[in-house]
Amino acid sequence: MEVLIVPDAAAAGERGARIVAALVRATPTAVLGLATGETQRPMYAALARRCRTRQLRLAEVTTFNLDEFVGVPADHRGSFRRAMHEQLFDLVEVDAARVHFPAAASVDEVPMICDRYEAAIATAGGLDLQLLGIGEDGHIGFNEPTSSLASRTRLKTLTERTVDGARAAFAPGEPPRHVVTMGIATILSARRCLLLATGARKARAVAAMVEGPLTSMVPASALQLHARATVIVDEAAAAQLTLAAYYRDVERGKPAWQRRADGDDEDAATSPREPDRGNP
Ligand code: F6R
Repeated sequence: MEVLIVPDAAAAGERGARIVAALVRATPTAVLGLATGETQRPMYAALARRCRTRQLRLAEVTTFNLDEFVGVPADHRGSFRRAMHEQLFDLVEVDAARVHFPAAASVDEVPMICDRYEAAIATAGGLDLQLLGIGEDGHIGFNEPTSSLASRTRLKTLTERTVDGARAAFAPGEPPRHVVTMGIATILSARRCLLLATGARKARAVAAMVEGPLTSMVPASALQLHARATVIVDEAAAAQLTLAAYYRDVERGKPAWQRRADGDDEDAATSPREPDRGNP
């Protein structure tokens, strides 16, 4: 697992956006798995800024969001569809026909929605990159502790703690307990995983994910099985990593070709070229 430690949440968003932008510049029709949550906000803002200044186009990408509450309408302020529209889709040019959510109006239609979602991901050619956040209990998507590491898109019941986290966006008694989420095997089938974690609240889960044992009690630890997982953490979220000095050392020694693939040369790649004045 590659661990990149950056100063703060804004830097994490910027770094994540650079990686996503480099992928989309190389493959404008990339298939992106997207996540919602507070952690992703600065990253979506950084992507939208690049689109506004014409350094990036998202018009040809296909997107699949990780999860959605069951029975929550798209325009509800707690729905992930609305969050994605507010934070990204309404700010950039995307093709609505290529935007996907695992949205079920009721638990009865969940099995059909899940089958269709998995089939749609496969038809699109699979996920080129899956963005992730992490819960304080180590969940990814809405794969709560003890989720099967072999799971595909399916119905999950949220833990009390996760419901509490969502409460602010719902009326009293309203927060839904059921969600549809990509499974852990669905996430691991992405060609690359990029997880962002910021703030001291995430420090314990981050350490368990990166340095703890592989266990369904920390669903994010499944990323240890992925050949191309990158974790971007700010200083606060990195506080309990015992090998932090090593991760920084690895990053300092990264070869130029690896840096280029992750957009570290973005400024050079997007600045207008010098006019060709021919041979001197
Ligand atoms: C959201 C999702 C969740 C969040 C996680 C962290 O689509 O899948 O796993 O990524 O709960 O949420 P924040 O970023 O709000 O702390």
